[in-house]
Amino acid sequence: MVEEDIHFRLMKVEDIPGILEVEHQSFTTPWTADAFYNELINNHFAYYIIAEMEHKVVGYCGVWVIVDEAHITNVAVHPEYRGRKIGEYLMRHIISLSMMYGAAKMTLEVRVSNRSAQNLYKKLGFTEHGIRKGYYTDNHEDAIIMWVNLDETKGIN
Ligand SMILES: CC(C)(COP(=O)(O)OP(=O)(O)OC[C@H]1O[C@@H](n2cnc3c(N)ncnc32)[C@H](O)[C@@H]1OP(=O)(O)O)[C@@H](O)C(=O)NCCC(=O)NCCS
Repeated sequence: MVEEDIHFRLMKVEDIPGILEVEHQSFTTPWTADAFYNELINNHFAYYIIAEMEHKVVGYCGVWVIVDEAHITNVAVHPEYRGRKIGEYLMRHIISLSMMYGAAKMTLEVRVSNRSAQNLYKKLGFTEHGIRKGYYTDNHEDAIIMWVNLDETKGIN
């Protein structure tokens, strides 16, 4: 169970500065403020949620839901708040949200070196379905493609 003083809600434009702090601490090629702004305002397939604690953004997760398929765009937790089930609950919330919008299955890519994230996804029932060679532009690392049927995993309820 995640701690009671951590709240989950939909991301708003005003959250972007806090999101960027987590983003820069989490990724070698972070998204820009414009990228998040476009997702929130212009991409009608996109849904983003955040985890906040005492009005501070501590994590977020995004998904595109296209017909019955949900594609995770990113998930990250501020380094000081990792290991407290926030990533897991962000994923469970986004699973519930995706199902609400009609998704039956969910996919994502993860670096072959990123064991923490792979463990998180496996815990939620994702399995490996192939490799995208040299997918990541910074170091040409391969991506593992993972999928889960959403009726075989657990959302927030
Ligand atoms: C991946 C990430 C989102 C996990 O968030 P988190 O809040 O620390 O993870 P949780 O505490 O919810 O852990 C849930 C599960 O993830 C796995 N996990 C998380 N951290 C782990 C670690 N350091 N080592 C191994 N497994 C780990 C475990 O299976 C864990 O379940 P358990 O506690 O029952 O063993 C976080 O490490 C992160 O932001 N990483 C940088 C960004 C990133 O790599 N995003 C994913 C891109 S594909």
